[in-house]
Amino acid sequence: MKKTLIALLGGATLAGCATIAAEPDYRRVALDLIKQDFRTKGPATLERVTVRDEAQQLCSEFATERSSEVNSRIEASQMQTIKAPANGKYLGSWQEGEKIAQSGRGMQSSDALGAANGGNCYACHQITKQEISFGNIGPSLYQYGKIRGNSEEMLKYTWGKIYNAQAYAACSNMPRFGHNGILTEAQLQDVMALLLDPASPVNK
Ligand code: HEC
Repeated sequence: MKKTLIALLGGATLAGCATIAAEPDYRRVALDLIKQDFRTKGPATLERVTVRDEAQQLCSEFATERSSEVNSRIEASQMQTIKAPANGKYLGSWQEGEKIAQSGRGMQSSDALGAANGGNCYACHQITKQEISFGNIGPSLYQYGKIRGNSEEMLKYTWGKIYNAQAYAACSNMPRFGHNGILTEAQLQDVMALLLDPASPVNK
């Protein structure tokens, strides 16, 4: 045992002097391990871990530093994914929106396939004054509509932001709710109403 260890160390030192050993392809190795050990269960699919789209690839490749060119490239491609509501209405029911904002269920191995997902908005945002348990990775959205108004431009921006946050901020921490099919169009209309309907407690 001791001999082997010394031999190994000696070998490594010699190799170190002679050539710089090629780095293994760590991504490949990790992916092979994941594919070997992970299984799809319900809505938690293996592909969600192993397949990246262009934005995810660029955000990983330039995780610590990104040029403004890369940011613009990501934002432009993500902007193309945004679909306006088919019925032309941006606002649904704020009461339903509050339930969606509160719910953190969805897309986990313990969820049924096809079950409605939550938005988990409170995990990252303050929204109503009544809810005192909220995260603060994202900015407070309290009085969002009261402060910003609901001009056509503001409705379009907010819809786009919730649909695909990366269209406005490359590599944002906010999930791409519409683009990734986390929330349906009707659910997006409901969380929009929570933020923008003058009757919503957010704007009182
Ligand atoms: C995992 C954290 C996270 C979750 C969950 C999340 N957000 Fe965000 N959100 C952020 C962050 C971080 C920002 C600021 C950075 C950015 O612009 O992307 C943000 C920004 C926003 C903005 C833009 C605010 C502005 O000042 O223009 C809106 C609107 C918004 N979020 C709405 C929502 C709604 C509605 C939900 C739930 C359906 C939600 N967010 C869920 C993290 C999150």
